[in-house]
Formats: sequence, C-alpha cells, structure tokens
Amino acid sequence: MYQLTINNLSEQEFLSEYWQKKPLLIKQGFTDFEDPLDANELAGLAVEESIESRIVTNHDNQWNAHHGPFEDFELLSEQNSTLLVQAADHWHPDAAQLLEPFRFIPNWRIDDLMISFSTPGGGVGPHLDQYDVFIIQGEGKRHWRVGMPDSKLKQFAQNNSLLQVEQFPAVIDCILEPGDILYIPPGCPHEGYAVENALNYSVGFRAPNQQDLFSSFADHVIDTETGNARYQDQNLQLRESKGELTNTEANKIKQLLQSLLDDECLFKSWLGNTVSQPKHEMDLMPPEELYSQAQVELLIADPDTLFERLGGTRAIYQATDNSIIFSVNGQNYTLPLEDLTAVKCLTDQIQVTANELNSSKNSLLFIQTFTTLLNEGIWFC
Ligand code: SIN
Ligand code: CO
Repeated sequence: MYQLTINNLSEQEFLSEYWQKKPLLIKQGFTDFEDPLDANELAGLAVEESIESRIVTNHDNQWNAHHGPFEDFELLSEQNSTLLVQAADHWHPDAAQLLEPFRFIPNWRIDDLMISFSTPGGGVGPHLDQYDVFIIQGEGKRHWRVGMPDSKLKQFAQNNSLLQVEQFPAVIDCILEPGDILYIPPGCPHEGYAVENALNYSVGFRAPNQQDLFSSFADHVIDTETGNARYQDQNLQLRESKGELTNTEANKIKQLLQSLLDDECLFKSWLGNTVSQPKHEMDLMPPEELYSQAQVELLIADPDTLFERLGGTRAIYQATDNSIIFSVNGQNYTLPLEDLTAVKCLTDQIQVTANELNSSKNSLLFIQTFTTLLNEGIWFC
C-alpha cells in the first residue's frame, strides 16, 4: 500500500488551498517509493492491442508521435523518447494500487493511471491538460516546469498530432526524484524532460463539459424513450405580430426541456450511467463456471470470503428518497435503501470482506445484482 503525505498539509487543507487552484510540488509524497513495474513490463503492456499506447520522440527539435500497439521498441531510443501507456490500472493490479491514496477525491472524478517511461531528454513537450493530474516520479529523475493558466498562451499541433503550447513562465521548476509528486490543476502549462531514464505515473481526473453532458443526456432520453411531451398552446390569443415568438413562448420551450432535467429519476439514472462509463477497455475475466444466487448467498455468509474489484472499475451510488441507484461501468442497478451499507462498501473500497457486505441484511435484489457482477468478472473472490 502507498501512503501519501502532502507536505505538511491535511487532505482538506490541500483541497482548500490547491485543488483546482494552483500547482503544488509534493516532496517525498511517497517515502521509500517502490515502482509497481519496470520499463520492460510497461513495454509488455504496449504490445497489447487492447491497450492504448504511444511513443513520442523529439530528435533535433523534431517532434513525432507514434501510436501502439508496438511490435518492437526501436523508436524508444536511448535519448529523447517517451513511451506512454494509458489506463494501466485496468491491466496491472500492482500499478492500480497507486490510485488508492488519491481516493480522498471522489471516485467518480478519478479517470485513470497513465504510465510513461522516458529516456534522457524525453517528454511530450510543453502542453496543457484539461484535467487535474498528479504526476508521481518513480525510478529516475525528471526536470519539470509548471506555469499558471494564461488564456493568451497559444496552442499549436506539432507535426499534426501533438498539441503543444508556446513557452511559458514557470512557477514551479524542479527536478523530481523517486516518490516526489507534482499536482497540476487544469489549464496549467507544463513540460517535463527526463534527466536519466525515468518512470512517471499520472493519476488523471475527469470533469465533463457541457457539450459532453448535453449530448449524453440527449442520448439517454432517446434510449429510454422518454421526453415525449410536446409543446402545447391551448390558450392561444390572437395577437398583432404573427412573426414574433414571444418571451412567454420561449420560456415554455425552455420549461419543456427543464422538466426533463428536473425529473430526478431520469436525471440520476442518466448521471450514474454516464459518469460510471469506463473510457478504456476492461480486462474482464468472467468465472469459468457461473455463480448461482444460492452460491453467492453462501459466499456472503462465509466470514473468510474476500471480494476484490477489477482494476479500472467505475462504481458509484446515488441515494434517492426511496432507493439507491448503484452504477457500475455504465450499468445502473436500483436497490432498496436497506442495501446502502453494502453498496457503500462496494463503491468506497476495492476490497471488501463478506462480513462487511453482510453487516446489514441484504435484499434479494442485492444478491441478484452482486451475482450478476461476480459473473461478469467485475468483482471476484
Ligand atoms: C508524461 O508522463 O510524459 C506526461 C505527463 C503529463 O504531462 O501529463
Ligand atoms: Co500533461
């Protein structure tokens, strides 16, 4: 287990003073840091078709990005190159442990763990990310510069593929050593170049924008065949201008849209569905023999059973007045309130004992739901 120390700040102090506000260098956030993998293992992941990977090189100021999967690593030269692997937490359980210390930030905001290996001089160049990120230094050293957001900074595509930003003044300029961490809020320009062969782990977050939200809400309305109420004007009065669409009419249209957002059941089911959607493939391994409901009841009754959650699983819940919407990887399950303790354990923890699950008397619906999740390989024991 990795134990995070944020300089001399409490987690709440970090949230109040730095989160989404300004970058922070966390010296020895992890003391005696041990890498969960080495460069060879990372390369092993980048060979896989289902894993998103890239090699970025910058020889003689010429930037190039190549997309995996890779059959060999000739591009990963001894200088000025970086191999990056996305969503490594979905594929490497030990690496996934690196997300755990950051779960003091709500789980639905956490996106994935990206791992990079850079040779001296290697990096992805100066750029901005739209999301918060913690960059953990593993093996080796890397020189980082981080600036404050500046809307005047011009972004441009290097070689048609790498989005970079022009040079910026740095508020943090440091050489990260193993166990050091950089927190970078959205929109802060940053660049990091390896001083010696270096492994870096980026804990990335998500924050949906209005376009994503509107488009996914519209999809949900269509999928669930809701939203069929139509504009009505039974009390129409004759008026002087026939060309005008009045403010009252515009407001009625707005209200028609608003009433869908105000439908708590529709809104929460869409929200659970959309924020629990994984962006990357999952390493699903369903059990060879499916569990029956009776077997799951026995497992939950046995105090020695330990259930583990598959890496990359997105599990959240929302409480309504009379039920819980439990959302797992884009699928919603509606459960009675009496299952709250069990659902809280499954969403708060990546490991849960049968004892913890059975601390309240579980409903039949819970047993059915958990049987489905075990049979899909999302939880296993
Ligand atoms: C990297 O590890 O090279 C990229 C991390 C980042 O800048 O977001
Ligand atoms: Co970045």
